[in-house]
Amino acid sequence: MNMRRQMKLGLSLVSNGTHPAGWRLPEARADAGVDFGVWKAMAQAAEAAKIHFMFLADGVAVRTAAKDDDTLSYSGRIDQFEPLTLISALSAVTERLGFVATASTTYNEPYHIARKFASIDHISGGRVGWNVVTSWSEAEAVNFNRDRHLEHGVRYGRAEEFVDVVTKLWDSWEDDAFKRDKASGQYFEPAAMHPTEHKGENFSVRGPLNIARPPQGHPVIAQAGSSEPGQELAARTADLVYMMAQSKEAAQAFYRSIKGRLSKYGRPENAVVVMPGIMPVLGRTEEEAAEKYDAMQAMIHPKVGLSMLARHFGDLSGHDLDGPLPDVLQESNGVKSQRDVLTAMARKEGLSIRQLYMRVTGAAGHLQLSGTAKSIADKMEDWFASGACDGFNIMAPHHPNGLTEFLDSVVPELQRRGLFRTEYEGRTLRENLGFARPANRFAGRAVSGPGAAAE
Ligand SMILES: Cc1cc2nc3c(=O)[nH]c(=O)nc-3n(C[C@H](O)[C@H](O)[C@H](O)COP(=O)(O)O)c2cc1C
Repeated sequence: MNMRRQMKLGLSLVSNGTHPAGWRLPEARADAGVDFGVWKAMAQAAEAAKIHFMFLADGVAVRTAAKDDDTLSYSGRIDQFEPLTLISALSAVTERLGFVATASTTYNEPYHIARKFASIDHISGGRVGWNVVTSWSEAEAVNFNRDRHLEHGVRYGRAEEFVDVVTKLWDSWEDDAFKRDKASGQYFEPAAMHPTEHKGENFSVRGPLNIARPPQGHPVIAQAGSSEPGQELAARTADLVYMMAQSKEAAQAFYRSIKGRLSKYGRPENAVVVMPGIMPVLGRTEEEAAEKYDAMQAMIHPKVGLSMLARHFGDLSGHDLDGPLPDVLQESNGVKSQRDVLTAMARKEGLSIRQLYMRVTGAAGHLQLSGTAKSIADKMEDWFASGACDGFNIMAPHHPNGLTEFLDSVVPELQRRGLFRTEYEGRTLRENLGFARPANRFAGRAVSGPGAAAE
């Protein structure tokens, strides 16, 4: 048996792909966002490649910075399945692949989330995870009876309490609470029921949950916040932590920052898996890969590119796209530090407006890797071996080929190097990620079964 430390691999898949122009390629399925057949085929291909999980990012709105409807009509990221509904169906056509779905703590109630994830954990045989987000877009606020988004600190305060209530609800029933004893007629053991009785600043929830404890005890919890409260929430509650990093040094710093916070919550370093996103574009040669990426970049519609820049610089549509940024730039309400970094980069490298939007849009802020299977595996191996991550979230630029190319070429290369497994170790997502099954906090005794260990 190969005892070498091995990577965890997730697939971060959105609508019809990560790249804003990926859907326009001849081989791409432009309607992938709402074609179940495409998702079924991608999930089955991922399972054949022994991928750990498919991750579905989400927002409860058409999240846009487009200045008008005409500009918006050039965005390909509009229509997509609701993640929990999608993974419920996908879990029925797979056996080992895990599924991590995003659900917002700002626009849900804890009982809804505990119940839905518990249900899908039962349906899938313990293969589900919850990506906890506080949501960032004003477009979501206006769909939920608010004029503005909740302030960042308030969102995270709610998220902290939300996650606690959800995990308490999952512990409503001890694992063997439901005797369903036909002879006596007693359905469950009353001492094994633990109403939640939660009364906090944001939530009042009596419980118990109306479904048995999930097969995983608690479905896997993922988090991707990068701010101070985001990292604290992740360190206290998450099993998986996603990150966005453009350089190995930035990834190493984030990795140390997350791992360094775990001891104060009594958690060992290996209790959390840290995974940056990467968007691979593959070719048989380096040149072919670079050409493929450049061709995709050149297809970013100027309206889409300009609306990405508008966040930082306001409306630049009156300027020559192939000329430089104007000398005088209007103030914006975006993140000032990002705007300053982009301005300095454009001036220093003499980038045109078009070249600048190409830089900021391609991989949605994640690391973009164009190359052969070998050179992409080299880069992944380097990050993995140098304390930058425990694995990766692979972001397919378009569907389905942008994913299957990676599964067919880079995964076997990683397997040849002993860096990725050739078989699933267990049945549940927790088992396959090497995580213990949490004991029920109310039962006060260890739980038996595969992957069982103290919480
Ligand atoms: C890989 C990755 C995936 C994310 N997925 C989502 C998502 O699906 N929905 C969402 O609202 N936010 C998502 N986010 C945003 C984060 O939840 C968080 O709001 C953001 O990283 C900013 O962190 P902060 O609020 O702690 O500063 C994601 C972030 C990353 C890096």
